[in-house]
Amino acid sequence: MKEVFITRIIPEAGIKLLESAGIKTVVNYRDSSLNQQEIIEQSENADAILCLLSDKFDSTLISGLKKVKVIANYAVGYNNIDVECCMENNIYVTNTPGVLTDTTADLGFALLMATARKIPQAHLYTKSGKFNGWGAELMLGHDIHGKKLGIVGLGRIGQAIAKRANGFDMDISYYSRTRKSELESEKGYKFKTLQALAKESDFIILCCSLTDETHHLINEDILALMKSSAYIINLSRGQVINEKHLIDFLSSGKIAGAGLDVYEHEPNFSPKLTKLENIVLLPHIGSASIETRNIMAELAARNIIDVLVDEKIPRSNVY
Ligand code: NAP
Ligand code: GLV
Ligand code: GLV
Repeated sequence: MKEVFITRIIPEAGIKLLESAGIKTVVNYRDSSLNQQEIIEQSENADAILCLLSDKFDSTLISGLKKVKVIANYAVGYNNIDVECCMENNIYVTNTPGVLTDTTADLGFALLMATARKIPQAHLYTKSGKFNGWGAELMLGHDIHGKKLGIVGLGRIGQAIAKRANGFDMDISYYSRTRKSELESEKGYKFKTLQALAKESDFIILCCSLTDETHHLINEDILALMKSSAYIINLSRGQVINEKHLIDFLSSGKIAGAGLDVYEHEPNFSPKLTKLENIVLLPHIGSASIETRNIMAELAARNIIDVLVDEKIPRSNVY
């Protein structure tokens, strides 16, 4: 019987699908991540691993795997896995593209709105009994409708953000690895250099994947170009922003605010971030809807079934 090791609890839908395909599932039910040695030990008999984005599969871990044929990441971003090393070891790497696009874009736009209109701050203020009358200058934020939005990484999620921003009459520009001339002519999105995007945008939202090129793409040089009334929202990966530089710019008020769903040293982050007033912090919940997490579990399972049962290249192989 084929076996899959699941590094941490995922929705039942994925586990059921694997079992109905005749695959034995071994699940780590502990409510915390395993270290690399634990993953190696617990996947000793595994033909596949279903893992989370918080599991780091570097060359040490990958070379410790005995018979694993596929590592199925329960996420679309797969910067946690050394793909080249997997290729060398004949291990497929799969992700969950497409199925979480709209859910993540919903959250991203909600984060943008929450940041600009101080919704979490206003909620805490009201909940703690401080609201004692309408105030002309109470909790003033900035408008969202009609403003200039700069999207970094116009991929699936970036385009879904643009769709939502259209409904708010935002003026949409983007910076990406490649130009999207069709989207430019059909939707009117404007391509800009990262520098021009930083200078002109009222909101910058990061939707790119994390690679060597996008690591610290947003640093003090880019932040220095932003308007003092502008916001930055990070929906991609924490390492795309130099978090230390961001803290400096937020604490000195050189930019208006930031909304973060991801952190440079996740799950750790500087206590300085939590002391800032002009920030909204979320615990990496972009794809966290019940519906989408079920579908992600099924897609991750299907990728494993493709390899172990149907003996074919998995549908969401990343290389
Ligand atoms: P995608 O369709 O592959 O989009 C990735 C985008 O990143 C593409 O537009 C790509 O540009 C751009 N990009 C890559 N390298 C770049 C570079 N050097 N400079 C500028 N742009 C670059 O993936 P997706 O499904 O939209 O997901 C995007 C990312 O969002 C994931 O990789 C993940 O890190 C993150 N994510 C976060 C959450 C969350 O919970 N916060 C949830 C889901 C995903 P081109 O199109 O021009 O090649
Ligand atoms: C979440 O961050 C993902 O990459 O799916
Ligand atoms: C506010 O509640 C208003 O009526 O303007």
